[in-house]
Amino acid sequence: MQRRNLLILGGAAAAVGLGKAALSSINTVPSPKLNDSSGAIASVPANRNQPLLRFVATADTGSSNADQAAVATAMTRYYQQNPYRLVVLAGDNIYTNGEMGKIGSAFEQPYRDLLKNGVVFRACLGNHDIRSDNGDRQVQYPGFHMPGRYYTFRDKAVQFFVLDTNVNADWRAQQPWLEKELSRSTAPWKIVYGHHPIYSSGVYGSSQGFIESLSPVFKKYGVQLYINGHEHSYERTRPIDGTTYLITGNGGAHLRPVGRSPWTEYSVSRYGFTAFEVFKDRINIQAIATNHQVFDQGTIPLKAA
Ligand SMILES: [Fe+2]
Repeated sequence: MQRRNLLILGGAAAAVGLGKAALSSINTVPSPKLNDSSGAIASVPANRNQPLLRFVATADTGSSNADQAAVATAMTRYYQQNPYRLVVLAGDNIYTNGEMGKIGSAFEQPYRDLLKNGVVFRACLGNHDIRSDNGDRQVQYPGFHMPGRYYTFRDKAVQFFVLDTNVNADWRAQQPWLEKELSRSTAPWKIVYGHHPIYSSGVYGSSQGFIESLSPVFKKYGVQLYINGHEHSYERTRPIDGTTYLITGNGGAHLRPVGRSPWTEYSVSRYGFTAFEVFKDRINIQAIATNHQVFDQGTIPLKAA
């Protein structure tokens, strides 16, 4: 059988009796909007080209409890099948008060297998993180790879811009810094992340302040994606003025309810993390639950300049 046919038949391969060795080389195609009963497992979307970059994002993780461990296990299993080198850690890294004494149970233990394999976590500060030493010790902690309270880094075709969105953030410096860095970025993909929501249908809701101060900057400089937590739920918007807003605060802290808004593409209160595969012309998004099932997926096309 031709490989082309194998790829097409991937999902049905088991039913036609192909051996395990043959299956291991097949990328199955997840159905759109899978539900619990589908039994599908998170896997690489059918594309014979490897992504330019694969990364995952999680937030509101640092509870040191079984729910965080379950999400971490799912992240590890996804890594084993779909290797990645980067984890976006979007704040509330250590509950309840950002105590570095808990770094073992809130970070190093749950993600030990990823850390052992050299996966790099790049953190931002959540509201709980600044309760101890204003978060300074987390900034200094090598495992969080934070050059400062806000910073930027480039990975392949993506430039990431990491914000301090806390109430005491130094916006007089951060806002011009963000605009300057965005304006001089040559990356085709620009992704911003911070802890707090901008558009949200969760408990806290949208931030009118950030909608006025940040969203126009995203539009001006072509930011395709903003990732955050704080809401303990998952929500993905349709593009709003060219930017998709994605909340993945379902990483371990107790879940909270989430509703829907006119711009909501999908929202759910469910533990998991979010995986991103960046291609030249699109980013594929998969939200993956603790049972390894894909419960949401979407695509962000590269916006024409
Ligand atoms: Fe928070």
